[in-house]
Amino acid sequence: MEKEGILIIDFGSQYVQLIARRIREHKVHSIVYPPTISIEKIKEINPCGIILSGGPSSVYDKDAPSIDKCILNLDVPILGICYGMQLLGKLLGGKIRKGGKREYGRTAVVINSKSSLLNGIPKKSITWMSHRDKVEILPKGFHSIAESANTKNAAFGDEKRKIYGVQFHPEVAHTEYGGIIISNFLVSICGAPKNWTMKSFINKKIDEIKAQVGDDEVILGLSGGVDSTVAAVLLHRAIGKKLHSVFIDNGLLRKNERERVKGLFTKNIQLDLKIVDAREKFLSQLKGVIDPEQKRKIIGRTFIEVFEETAKNMKNVSFLAQGTLYPDVIESQSFFGGPSHTIKSHHNVGGLPEKMGLKLVEPLRDLFKDEVRAVGRELGIARENTDRQPFPGPGLAVRILGEVKKEYLDILKEVDDRIVNIAKKHGIYYTTWQIFGVLLPVKSVGVMGDARTYENTIAIRAVTSLDGMTADWARIPYDVLAEMSNTIINEVEGVNRVVYDISSKPPSTIEWE
Ligand code: XMP
Repeated sequence: MEKEGILIIDFGSQYVQLIARRIREHKVHSIVYPPTISIEKIKEINPCGIILSGGPSSVYDKDAPSIDKCILNLDVPILGICYGMQLLGKLLGGKIRKGGKREYGRTAVVINSKSSLLNGIPKKSITWMSHRDKVEILPKGFHSIAESANTKNAAFGDEKRKIYGVQFHPEVAHTEYGGIIISNFLVSICGAPKNWTMKSFINKKIDEIKAQVGDDEVILGLSGGVDSTVAAVLLHRAIGKKLHSVFIDNGLLRKNERERVKGLFTKNIQLDLKIVDAREKFLSQLKGVIDPEQKRKIIGRTFIEVFEETAKNMKNVSFLAQGTLYPDVIESQSFFGGPSHTIKSHHNVGGLPEKMGLKLVEPLRDLFKDEVRAVGRELGIARENTDRQPFPGPGLAVRILGEVKKEYLDILKEVDDRIVNIAKKHGIYYTTWQIFGVLLPVKSVGVMGDARTYENTIAIRAVTSLDGMTADWARIPYDVLAEMSNTIINEVEGVNRVVYDISSKPPSTIEWE
């Protein structure tokens, strides 16, 4: 039976997705499961190797997460990282010391004996640590392979059983030779096949979609964003005319968005695309509403109404395609739960499939965002479409503070277009996470020619970020900001002042509403 790549057991580490991505960067497939996974399921997966992640617990805590001890006898190589190392130590009969001095941040470790895991890295190097507990007495058959000032057992291993532990985090960029350590584990220790390429993914996925859908038909909500664009092209390759796409123009989109989507899907591929003009409906529902949460809810609800109404006329459809990505899958199956506090209710179509009695097809649910972009490029979609910046579901409505009015939308579309074009011209668009304008309906006095003006204000928001969870304001050159400000004020009627937002997230958020 063909072996799966690497199985990662998630003990609640903030870095679990990073581990999965690092492995995939080596073209080896990786999947994440919670510690409740059964031994039968692990055998069914048949991994080349197993990684036990870090986590916030202490192995002797009453409710500390653990794993079926039988994994130690599967004859599959194992690497424990931080908590994972301590758990291995405990399960194999060693002793862990609770508490003590915290070791945090960049930490030098020194290799003290030869091992397959740390092969090829200098005797002394910098790693990233974040722990308090440590392995004090090694299990039988194990020996220390690296030490730090704080612990004699910064890494341990049993070469015969191919079981290793590291107290530091090789997946974090601050660990100088983390890439080599991961590669050593994957290649020399596990012998994992390097077959995770986007080309192989596409071929496999097309077969899977065909088998899942059979003779049925599929409906897809096309937003024009990266995920639904890639999902549409992939599904179209698999089932052609049996895919029906719906694009809802809610009037809250960027300039020329409808035309762009139409061009993209009708010129090169003849996608069955239904464009619904619902601009009036959304605008009338939003009339007089100023509360951001209420705006979001109205937009979500109206979207579902319009989508359902459109789908009603498609008689043979029994599947709804969704662009769910792997981070959502990991989050939803997590033993530890996802983020608990709703800061903003994100617009999604959560309850839609049950309500409409449709089955789900989710062709991207194995992929991280950067992999979705790579699949898109492999499918021949131009970079300007695959590498677009994120755009929120509620669109420009959360970039106009307070009530959404047609006149404000018209202004903001023009402003956004200028900002994006100038950012692209100066190579800033692809190096920032997002760059956009926010319309503040705050009027101030200006002077143009000899006349007094009394117009709205635009805030430029540009941030750098890895995942949108935290962000810093982008240090855009003054000259570029000057060009944006001049262009907006000279070319867009209704704006006479531009300001730059210099807040990071947290405590601010990326969008203003
Ligand atoms: P915040 O404003 O919460 O945004 O810091 C974080 C990221 O999420 C995007 N965002 C949304 N995306 N539906 C979406 O699909 C939404 O309702 C939504 N609200 C915010 C935002 O653009 C940023 O990338």
